[in-house]
Amino acid sequence: MQVVHVASEVFPFSRSGGLGDVLGVLPAVQARLGAEVTVVSPWYADVPDEVAEVWRGTLPDVPGLPVLPPVRVGEVRRGGVRFVFVGLPFFDRPGLYHPDDVWRFSQFGRAVLPVLAGLGVVPDVLHGHDWQAGLVVARARLAGVRGVFSVHNLQYQGRWNLRDGAPWTGLPDWTLTPEGLEFHGDVNLMKAGLVFASQVTTVSPTYAHEITTPEFGEGLEGLMTRLRAEGRLSGILNGLDQERWDPRTDQDVPSFSDAAGKAAAVAALRAEFGLDGAPILASVSRLADQKGMDLLIGALPQLVQDWNVVVLGGGDPALEAGLREWAAHPRVVFAQGMNEPLAHRIYAGADAFAMPSRFEPCGLSQMIAMRYGTLPVVRLTGGLVDTVPGDVGFTFGEASVAALAGACREARVAFEDRAGWAARAERAMNLTFSWEGPARSYLGLYARVLSSPPAPLT
Ligand code: GLC
Repeated sequence: MQVVHVASEVFPFSRSGGLGDVLGVLPAVQARLGAEVTVVSPWYADVPDEVAEVWRGTLPDVPGLPVLPPVRVGEVRRGGVRFVFVGLPFFDRPGLYHPDDVWRFSQFGRAVLPVLAGLGVVPDVLHGHDWQAGLVVARARLAGVRGVFSVHNLQYQGRWNLRDGAPWTGLPDWTLTPEGLEFHGDVNLMKAGLVFASQVTTVSPTYAHEITTPEFGEGLEGLMTRLRAEGRLSGILNGLDQERWDPRTDQDVPSFSDAAGKAAAVAALRAEFGLDGAPILASVSRLADQKGMDLLIGALPQLVQDWNVVVLGGGDPALEAGLREWAAHPRVVFAQGMNEPLAHRIYAGADAFAMPSRFEPCGLSQMIAMRYGTLPVVRLTGGLVDTVPGDVGFTFGEASVAALAGACREARVAFEDRAGWAARAERAMNLTFSWEGPARSYLGLYARVLSSPPAPLT
């Protein structure tokens, strides 16, 4: 089976968050299980030099549509997977995402299938991820290729007003209706993927249910409810790259294999930031409303009585400013931006890990933290429900400062029982979040898609 994944980020070539991490491992596991796998993503300026140019030219004009700029195509083979990079001039900038992304990914969406054809890749199934790949799924469907579309985060949908946005999609007018990709007067590229895929998945069973409700559906709950009723929406829990995140072999931290062995990593983190003897509560996160980092900041007056608090992340300038201000406190550390080695040191060296997400499609940080014996304090939503066992983590329901502070207090009290805490940490480290099961589930889903008639075009 020839599977083609399409996504806006692919670790280690490009990454801003969990989406890139997923694309960094799922394809390789599928290849190991016997599928032929190609991954297509943009050729950003920061993609490493090992990518070799294999083709350069212009794609055929389509009468009536905006002309696509010249394309460079790069390729690398790794772990049995063929990674293809689509180089369009406007991807040649630092960073991944920019304000003109709907325009950029509309053109990417038009370029992908011709590029694949030029490389001789004939997909049996095209698997698109998040809104940046929605258009590719739609175009594939119109070309007779079956699609699977995975929602990693429904909050970002790729919208642009219909009049300006529609021509760039290159889709026929009959698709620009409320049954198609029109959404409140806009083109909605996420909808393009949802409507034209044979099967839609999200990255945890709980989130798959949540997005059928107004609270989490981002306005698309009606469509999600219909997909669900038609048997076209399911949740497949992400795994974790257990080689990349392994306290036994991690080059960035003192190696350990059980809860007791973690002490050296904790001592190292304490020394690195000059922390006092209180336990360490950490967070490694995009600083965004989704992640509930405002709740964490709001809870700091209470948290600093019990914990040293270490936060690594970047994003929303207001949240960054709030954390920078707090960093003057001797028990608060804020490291701005993303720093992979420091992330490893924090996962290994913290005692507890806070994730007060408002919504969390899957979440990978809590899995990483548990693998390093760092106990998660999480809000009960999405993938956090599906991955954090009650006898390991500490949970709360309401998205409020008080609820978060309460769960952290509970964790702090539990920390006093050193044997009980070590037993929890031991259970955490013994959990497995292998990609093998999920990779098989996706392959099974592709097989189902290929053996059933295509959903009717609306
Ligand atoms: C997005 C979601 C996160 C999920 C990741 C990978 O970043 O916010 O919950 O783990 O995608 O699927």
